[in-house]
Amino acid sequence: MTADELKQLVRTVPDFPEPGIQFRDITTLIGNGAGLAATVRLLAADAKKAGAQAIAGMEARGFIFGAAVAVELGLPFIAVRKPGKLPVKTIGVDYALEYGTDRLEIDPDAVDAGQRVVIVDDLIATGGTALASVELLRMAGAKADHALFVIDLPDLGGAQKLGAADVAVSALMEFE
Ligand code: PRP
Ligand code: ADE
Repeated sequence: MTADELKQLVRTVPDFPEPGIQFRDITTLIGNGAGLAATVRLLAADAKKAGAQAIAGMEARGFIFGAAVAVELGLPFIAVRKPGKLPVKTIGVDYALEYGTDRLEIDPDAVDAGQRVVIVDDLIATGGTALASVELLRMAGAKADHALFVIDLPDLGGAQKLGAADVAVSALMEFE
């Protein structure tokens, strides 16, 4: 399946979670077995090219693709979690979303010093989530310089924001 065919599987829901947001919903993409498999294969090829030694995914949608990519490549998976979920002393970063604010946390021991960790998430909008993840992974000692997404919303400037932090961004498809 091509990236163009995968794009047809993404559902757009207007005015969710608030008026004015065009929500690009992956539920319909992952609900298609061939579509899910092709998406994971394409992301895994990019992660391999980036020299990934581990994959990090952000709760919740990043877990779906990130863990699958890690399995495909036989690599460890690092869970970047929403606050209060990890049972150990965490490091955390607050960040702004296209709609609202949030916080991400990791277990600093989940990262090996100097390990090249490639970030995988379903979508980049403002880039706040991915940038917070990069900061966290770097605080824990990782080399975090590649981030892969199924969907980029280029109008929101996320890829540029990550570029300014020396993170190379790639995505399988774009939406306005
Ligand atoms: C969504 C999406 C990305 C993030 C992108 O997650 O899965 O992680 O927003 O937005 P940004 O580039 O502006 O930061 P959300 O926080 O809605 O959580 P979810 O995965 O639990 O649905
Ligand atoms: N996360 C941030 N912005 C989003 C959007 N427009 N659609 C789906 N997920 C998002």
